[in-house]
This record gives sequence, structure tokens and C-alpha cells, in this order.
Amino acid sequence: MAMQQINQTESSSKVLGHLRGKRVLITGTTGFLGKVVLEKLIRTVPDIGGIYLLIRGNKRHPDARGRFLNEIATSSVFDRLREADLDSFESFIEERVHCITGEVTEPRFGMSEEACAKLAGELDAVINSAASVNFREELDKALTINTLCLDNIAELARQNPQLAVLQVSTCYVNGMNSGQVTESVIKPAGESIPRSSDGYYEIEELVRLLEDKIADVRARYSGKTLEKKLVDLGIREANRYGWSDTYTFTKWLGEQLLMKALQGRSLTIVRPSIIESALEEPAPGWIEGVKVADAIILAYAREKVTLFPGKRSGIIDVIPVDLVANAIILSLAEAIGEPGRRRIYQCCSGGSNPVSLGQFIDHLMAEAKANYAAYDHLFYRQPSKPFVAVNRRLFDLVVSGVRLPLSISDKVLKLLGNSRDLKMLKNLDTTQSLATIFGFYTAPDYIFRNDDLMALSARMGGVDKVLFPVDARQIDWEVYLRKIHLAGLNRYALKERKVYSLRATKSQQKAA
Ligand SMILES: NC(=O)c1ccc[n+]([C@@H]2O[C@H](COP(=O)([O-])OP(=O)(O)OC[C@H]3O[C@@H](n4cnc5c(N)ncnc54)[C@H](OP(=O)(O)O)[C@@H]3O)[C@@H](O)[C@H]2O)c1
Repeated sequence: MAMQQINQTESSSKVLGHLRGKRVLITGTTGFLGKVVLEKLIRTVPDIGGIYLLIRGNKRHPDARGRFLNEIATSSVFDRLREADLDSFESFIEERVHCITGEVTEPRFGMSEEACAKLAGELDAVINSAASVNFREELDKALTINTLCLDNIAELARQNPQLAVLQVSTCYVNGMNSGQVTESVIKPAGESIPRSSDGYYEIEELVRLLEDKIADVRARYSGKTLEKKLVDLGIREANRYGWSDTYTFTKWLGEQLLMKALQGRSLTIVRPSIIESALEEPAPGWIEGVKVADAIILAYAREKVTLFPGKRSGIIDVIPVDLVANAIILSLAEAIGEPGRRRIYQCCSGGSNPVSLGQFIDHLMAEAKANYAAYDHLFYRQPSKPFVAVNRRLFDLVVSGVRLPLSISDKVLKLLGNSRDLKMLKNLDTTQSLATIFGFYTAPDYIFRNDDLMALSARMGGVDKVLFPVDARQIDWEVYLRKIHLAGLNRYALKERKVYSLRATKSQQKAA
């Protein structure tokens, strides 16, 4: 872009104006969404004052800078920036990316009082993207990272009352409520929890109860049994209060904690639905890891799953990661420009451009049938059976009906000296375990709305609509699912197939 053009864009973009010179701390940048937010900020908000990354050390890289340089800066998410201007990218990283070694779950992130106060004083905003997104996490771990540690984020705001806090939550805090879901505080669908006059729910007593139950389980079990009991406890408690799993329950609790701690301050909660590969930026299809829906796509591609519980007419709410990153940046700019308010935005597709589970499956199957060979990391051959979604009752009936004869055959074969598990039984296990984890999400009974996010985008104006698009109506689901998402999965999320085939050994033997 020519200099004059950049200046014009900057002067007419409210977002760039609000973020100019500002210093923003981001957590969770070793993860999928955090990387896309970071890339977009570096590429599109060149006048940002500084980006601070809170990163915990790991065995290979005990300090944040080392982990950033080895695990984040090397990611293909930055290919576009590197290709456009490597020198500028490197000097941006050198001068404006500050890495802080810290554990978000520890008080003051494990820093000294002085260091934490200094950090709080330097910042204008925090984006908290760190979370455990494991639906069936052990309750103690999920409670720590998704709920309790938000008090450490709030502490920064107590030390610096001007700080804008942006919490990345999820549309699925909606839990088992059905119908239209607006951008507001969510009422639990299960056992009641006291509500404050400010609209949020009072969770202290409930958290104490959960902690007592965790302590009780810890006193009675150890090792793997303890882990399993803590997973079961999480699901049981989530179900009791109206959520399908521990992840969404603890994320909802986290929202309440922040709303109480930051009353009267700047708090923005951004709730994405199911985040999938990029629609356009930094590259169409960019994705990291095998996400929620992809675990099922992968199992189908490898012919492990053909039957799944689901409601074909239900709206499956998927949103490309670049639209989520844009929603975060847009609402961050608003929070900095117009501080002192609580806001909730949903970043989703269901209300404005719905795709049903049936259409989703049909697009993927059509592409698998027509072009499976183009996705060599995903499909090893053309799937021979269709992927069929049936209602839960029928699914359970079929699965239990098939399991009994299969386990008998498996036992008989093992008695006859065949030590390998029956392939069909293994596939049934995979199907059942995926159905347990994701079954709730494939039978949706709710539609997420994002009218407030769309209104924010309209308020920010035409230039920001182009720089930071959030409108899911631009998605052509057939093109996105068939040509962008599958290609992205194949290219970015899945490794090249390792073929240690017997054939190689045989041909080597022949050659010898
Ligand atoms: N993915 C989705 O479909 C989806 C949908 C809706 C909302 N969200 C929300 O979006 C945010 C980002 O999700 P994502 O998909 O990017 O997740 P992700 O790829 O799993 O990344 C999670 C991030 O959180 C950090 N983290 C996890 N446990 C931690 C702990 N105990 N202490 C410190 N850091 C910890 C991880 O750091 P380490 O590398 O150090 O573990 C990583 O940077 C989350 O808040 C999630 O709830 C995600």
C-alpha cells in the first residue's frame, strides 16, 4: 500500500485510531485463535504501541521469549507477513513484541508484586484467550484455568482501573437452553443459581461446593482413577446446572466471576461459536490442530465412523477463525475508545447465514466422493460408506445392538489366539467416544444471534468493515466447507502420511 493510502486508511479507520500507540497483553498465543489474533494485529495495526504475550515456560523452552521464537514465531500463520516483508516482520517482533514468562493460573501470574504492578501500569488492554478447551477436562483443572484464574486477570484491572479486559468465552455457555440466544448474560438451564441485581450470577457459594467435592474425590482416589473421577464429577456437576460438559460450565462460571470483579469497568466478553479454519486471512483454510468438528471429519475420512447421533435439521454453528480475530480486535478498539462498560458479543453464523448439520455433512461427503485424492493427508482412499446422522435413541439402539455380537466375536477370536482387536469393534469404540464428547453439539436446539456485533461493525464504519470483517453472510458454505476447510485441514492440520509399508521392505528384499 502506498504511504498516502496507509495514512488515509488510518485516519478513516476508527479501529486503527483507537489502537494507535496502545499496549495490549494477550494470553493463549501458543494456541489456535491467539496466533491468528496476534498475526492480524501485527499485519493490520502497525501503529499499535506494543504487544505483550503472557506465555508459560515448558520443558524445552523454560522462558517466554524462547517459547515464542520456537513455537509461535515459526508458525505458518506468519507466512504471509514473512513473504510480504521479512525485515519489517522481524523488527516488529524485536521492538514491539514483549514476552512475559508467567502462568495465568497463578496469583500475579507468578510475578513479584512490583513486576505485576509495573506490567499493569504499562497496559491499556488485556485479551484473555487462554483456556482448557477439553470438553471433558478434570473439574479441578477446568475450574482453575477457565474460571478461577480470571481473578488474576481482574487483579491487573484493580491495579490499573483504566485497563480494558476482553475475555474470549464461547457461545456454548448457553448450555442446554434452547431457542434464540442473544448477546446477554445466560441463565443456567438447570438448578438455580442466585442472580445479582447487576444481572450476573453469584457463583462464590457454588465454587466452594465444587471445591469441597473435588477435595472429597481427591481424598478417596489416586492415580488414573482419581483423574477419571474428576472428569466424571465435572460432567455430573455441569449437567446438574444445565451444561453438557465441564468446559462450557466452567467458561460460564468464568464470565460471572469477571462480571462481578469488573463491575463499572471495561469488560468485553466475546463468544465465538465453533471456530474453524480461516475464510481468507492470513490464508484461506489456515488452521492449527484438529478442532471439534474435524475430529469427526477425520474419523469419517479414515472410515472409522459412519453413523453418528445428530439432528440433520439443526443449525451447526461454525465460524472461521479470521472473523473471530476481527471481532476481538473490533471490540477491543471499542472498549479502549469508549471505556467503562460491560459488553457481550457473539461471533457466530447461525442467526445470519445458517447451515444445517445435514447440509454440512452433504457438502463434505460430496467433496470426499468427487475429490478425495486431492486431500492426501486426510483421505487415504475414497470412503466406501456414507456418513449418516440419526437421532440419539436410534443411535444408542443400533450401537448396543451391534456391540454385543461384536464383543462376543472378539472374545472368541482372542480365545482362538488372535490377539488383535476386531477392527469393527475398535471403530465402534471410536464412534461411541466421539458421540459422548460431541453428541450434544451435533443435535443443536438453539440459534446464536450476533445482532450487537453486527451493529458494532456498522458503527465502526465502512473502512473497518473491510479491514475487520465479521459478517458471516459472506460465507458460501459449499465453497468454504469443500474447497477451503478440507484443503486447509489437509495442508495445515494433518501431517504427511507415513508409509512404512511392507511393500517397501519386500521391494528392497527383491532388489537385494
Ligand atoms: N476452538 C474453538 O472452537 C473455540 C470456540 C469457542 C471459543 N473458544 C475459546 O477461544 C479461546 C482460544 O481457544 P483455542 O482454540 O485457541 O485453544 P487452544 O488452541 O487449545 O489454545 C489454548 C491456549 O490456552 C493456554 N492454556 C491452556 N491451559 C493453560 C494453563 N493451565 N495455563 C496457562 N495457559 C493455558 C495454552 O497454552 P499452553 O500452550 O501453554 O498450554 C494455549 O495457548 C479459548 O478461550 C476458548 O474457550 C474456542
